[in-house]
Amino acid sequence: MDKIRIVGGNPLNGTIPISGAKNATLPLMIASLATADTLTLHNVPSLQDVVTLSRILGNHGVDYAVAGRRPGSQRTHGSTVRLTASEIVDTTAPYDLVRRMRASFWVIGPLVARMGEAKVSLPGGCAIGTRPVDFFLDALSALGANIEIDQGYAVASASNGLVGNRVTFPKVSVGATHVASMAAALARGESVIENAAAEPEVVDVAECLNKMGAKIEGAGTRTIHIQGVEELHGAEHTVVPDRIETGTYAMAVAMTGGKVRLEGARPQHLEAALETLKSAGVSIEVDDTGMTVARNGNGIQPVDVTTEPFPGFPTDLQAQLMALMTKAQGTSSIRETIFENRFMHVSELARLGAAIRLDGQQAFIEGQPTLQGAEVMATDLRASVSLVIAGLAAEGETTVGRVYHLDRGFENLEEKLSACGAQIERLVA
Ligand code: UD1
Repeated sequence: MDKIRIVGGNPLNGTIPISGAKNATLPLMIASLATADTLTLHNVPSLQDVVTLSRILGNHGVDYAVAGRRPGSQRTHGSTVRLTASEIVDTTAPYDLVRRMRASFWVIGPLVARMGEAKVSLPGGCAIGTRPVDFFLDALSALGANIEIDQGYAVASASNGLVGNRVTFPKVSVGATHVASMAAALARGESVIENAAAEPEVVDVAECLNKMGAKIEGAGTRTIHIQGVEELHGAEHTVVPDRIETGTYAMAVAMTGGKVRLEGARPQHLEAALETLKSAGVSIEVDDTGMTVARNGNGIQPVDVTTEPFPGFPTDLQAQLMALMTKAQGTSSIRETIFENRFMHVSELARLGAAIRLDGQQAFIEGQPTLQGAEVMATDLRASVSLVIAGLAAEGETTVGRVYHLDRGFENLEEKLSACGAQIERLVA
């Protein structure tokens, strides 16, 4: 299995181009199931999750074509992808495919809306918590689908089509908002989604669905109004830049010192995280096409942060912030409110010399003057990149194992960091 080897201590200086957002790309690809025409997506990042989802969609009959890939080229960035589901050949998403990536469960929305039936494996447990699917099933049921659980599968049927309705989520869920939006877009009549997720990726997907002929208003707020249409058509859409990748590199620069321009970043998509970084003593300059993050010789100040749905501090940056706070001049606290088991990076950061105490869903991080390189292991996507950030600032050598977690969600990570002066390389097994 591949590993990442880092020799810490170099500041980061240069420019990092920000990729298309993984968390927008996946639901945008899934939206292709909702039309028989071609959906063209630009700025699709080269990620393992994208490959996994393309296989799942292929199983349903989606023709997936990547434009202009040079023969033999392995790692690309920002591709244009054409997805055509002219015929849905199979409405079942089998366990073997769905278990690899939780978001693949989301195919249930467009499949039942377009075909009147879908049989999708329940995604099962996940390293960062139980992550149930009750909100999805309740939403589809409110839209008139009959739902049954059969031998580990969710079976949704609506032979006469879905019918618009009010869907009120008990808790904000990004995935359930995507699915309810896609299903309601093809339901008869009007739907209102209350307590909807307002994440920029929800807005991006709604914009794309509207280009496909949907009538969705209010995406980006807690209440989304959708007027159902009979069918959707093809469209062309550019994936929004990745705010989590942006925040991750901003924290890496804060950690190592230096000055890096994050080209294409949208600062308005991560205001809470940028405010946190500013209060920690990091300089952030915003311009028309991105932003520049810098930290001079001054140390990092401790912060107190609670993860929240957008526009609050994102859970997907929690591990990276914790890595940064291991070097703060004082004690920080981070409370996780979205997922119940998202502190697995704590024991790995401790191997690098971090002093972190856990009290339920809250972590107290006592900053240390130095971290020491060590062998560590990635446990999930965001946790693994927190180990890279810590390794960049640790003394000596750090190797991060199980890097397939990183490959799921960070495009050309080693290339981007080494172009800014980091000593980082992939050891191919
Ligand atoms: C998405 C993101 C993930 C991010 C998360 C929260 C993608 C591909 N993934 O995941 O990176 O960390 O949003 O911002 O976009 N819940 C239920 N029942 C349900 C659905 C969710 O109880 O049916 C709970 C979850 O367990 C969790 C909370 O709702 O506690 C929020 O999860 P949700 O927003 O659904 O996360 P995802 O959409 O899976």
